[in-house]
Amino acid sequence: MNYRHIYHAGNFADVWKHAVLVALFDALKQKAKPFCYLDTHAGIGRYDLQAEEARKTAEADKGIASLWQATDLPELLQQYRQLIADDNVGDSLRYYPGSPWLANLLRREDDSLICNELHPVDVETLRDLFHRQRKVSIRNEDAYQSLTACLPPKEKRGLVLIDPPFEKVDEFRQLLDGLKNAYQRWPTGIYTLWYPIKSRVEVQQFYRRLELSGIRRILRAELNMKRPTDGEFTGSGLVMINPPWQIEQRIQPAGDWLARHLGGAEANCTIDWLVPE
Ligand SMILES: C[S@@+](CC[C@H](N)C(=O)[O-])C[C@H]1O[C@@H](n2cnc3c(N)ncnc32)[C@H](O)[C@@H]1O
Repeated sequence: MNYRHIYHAGNFADVWKHAVLVALFDALKQKAKPFCYLDTHAGIGRYDLQAEEARKTAEADKGIASLWQATDLPELLQQYRQLIADDNVGDSLRYYPGSPWLANLLRREDDSLICNELHPVDVETLRDLFHRQRKVSIRNEDAYQSLTACLPPKEKRGLVLIDPPFEKVDEFRQLLDGLKNAYQRWPTGIYTLWYPIKSRVEVQQFYRRLELSGIRRILRAELNMKRPTDGEFTGSGLVMINPPWQIEQRIQPAGDWLARHLGGAEANCTIDWLVPE
């Protein structure tokens, strides 16, 4: 396990994924009944953008830092930025919430969080971050095992984020197998899967397999920063299973803004149903 998210925290892919997470939490909070959030690849939870590792790549400069001072943000990105601003001191941007911490900022008292991280050191950092927090459990096992162990959640409603590092050549296959297994256990859950757009062929194959999986209601949301070139990380993809009603209307303006301001001339955000109802 070589991947450490600190090198990438707050980059354009994080911004897209986390803005969508805000929209998903908002939709879940429309109902009073508590829900569960399962984060299968949690990372350390919260990142110091001044840490040596983060400064080395400076990926946040072309991500969250690019929208820190913007005056024309669409509503969802304003809300997302405000959450992060409230988690920092003054006007400065130093700490960036990973998905577990963002979820913690968004959840209500009775909503529960299950955060799983396999890396033995990172999971301890995550445990320290959530020390003594009510309704939070931290797990240290393989992500795909955690899906089997935790689903369906006792709340019977909620969201699963599967956000692998894509270090392994067969990660797309594992991701799909993991999803199918989880969906069988809990077909009414909301699932969000993140994947890099690096190889168009591989991504098309993944879409084809999803179409053939028998799973319905699959929404695809791609943020492409430039024209895809094989081998280069040019876009950030999300597929959502059972997404909340009309979520695309909330996230499209955010994706369009990110494409326009963070991407090149051919950047775009496309959101469509891969498999409808
Ligand atoms: C892309 S990062 C997660 C970022 C996080 N979801 C966020 O948005 O802030 C992927 C994480 O998965 C962890 N990881 C790698 N393989 C894993 C596995 N098989 N099971 C669980 N976690 C794994 C890595 O250590 C890394 O922290």
